[in-house]
Amino acid sequence: MNKETLSYFSPPHIEFGNEAIVNLASHITALGGKKPFIVSDTGVSNVGILKTVVTPLEDANLPFATYVDIEPNPTDISVLQGVEVFQKEKCDVVIAVGGGSVMDAAKAIRLLITHEPPLEPYYVDSDGANKIRDDMPPLICVPTTAGTGSEVSQGAIITDTSMQTTDRWRKRAIITRYNMSNIALLDPSLTVKMPQALTAATGMDAITHGIEAYVATKHHPIAEGVALQALKMLGANIRNVYHDRENVVARGEMLLGSCMAAFSFQKGLGAVHSIAHQLSTDAPIPHGVANAILLPHVMEFNLPHVIDKYADVATALGVNVNEMSKSEAACAAIDEIRALNNELNMPTGLGDAGLEREKIPKLAVDSMLDHCHKFNPRKCTEEDMLRLLEVSL
Ligand SMILES: [Fe+2]
Repeated sequence: MNKETLSYFSPPHIEFGNEAIVNLASHITALGGKKPFIVSDTGVSNVGILKTVVTPLEDANLPFATYVDIEPNPTDISVLQGVEVFQKEKCDVVIAVGGGSVMDAAKAIRLLITHEPPLEPYYVDSDGANKIRDDMPPLICVPTTAGTGSEVSQGAIITDTSMQTTDRWRKRAIITRYNMSNIALLDPSLTVKMPQALTAATGMDAITHGIEAYVATKHHPIAEGVALQALKMLGANIRNVYHDRENVVARGEMLLGSCMAAFSFQKGLGAVHSIAHQLSTDAPIPHGVANAILLPHVMEFNLPHVIDKYADVATALGVNVNEMSKSEAACAAIDEIRALNNELNMPTGLGDAGLEREKIPKLAVDSMLDHCHKFNPRKCTEEDMLRLLEVSL
């Protein structure tokens, strides 16, 4: 028995249901909110989702302010602008309506409402967890994609423009249990407008969360169980939502599956995420696409260390492993990821997705600065990162 004391976190209150958004005003009131601050982006606003979200507030005569300037891979600059609007509008509750970028930015905005800016001291690599208190405004997360799971995670990934740790902008994480939302409001009807490519990329992000969490080195049997169930739901539904995006039942399974996969990665992630975090700032590669491309290569790298666990992954993803040995089943899990990437029309490699070869050495250095690989089942060196980037090109 391990003598280390382990610390596990429960997810927030999760409200799941088609058109669950109609209850938004009552959730805000129950949290003591009188004027919510809605954080979103122009994509969500342009397809009409924001209108669907604010209608229940208008119906309840609840005043609100909106801030829709969150960009993909949100920067500390847009976080600070959001803080200014929140304060100027005298809001008291934060509502994040969007994908991972919006939810992560909303968490950082909420942090700086009660903590002295800038974000620098609060990043995980500045020992931020020990400086963050729980006296922040309540947060309700309304995901409009099924992938990041930020609505139930302790992390917020922000692009740091201060260049204090590297000579370029770099994605950094703020990780604290106080980042958890008060309510995760999961409404599958809000995800049916997701374009096909975004459906594929976010779905592969969720699958990557499940796989990396399941094999991550922290001892967390609860998270392992949740990760496998998440992979079962994601594996059974990702093709359905890609080919039939209005399938609201499958959308619901993906939304719950992505939420569960994110809950499970409190166990840790791995090398895929350490590299992918650099790719979305240094190359025009969306997070989920970067994960999808890297995942089979990192799985091959990890394979000798996690054969039994990858065999479990194959079963969870729905591969028939009846006639297979453990190592054949483990390899079949990697084949299934390749088959999924193919069916979901992912780019064939990082080069095809827009990465220039000359950026690889610096990316390898920065990947080592990212915290995720510390839980990878096979120890990674800078040489390994370099080789993984090269084989994924
Ligand atoms: Fe991710």
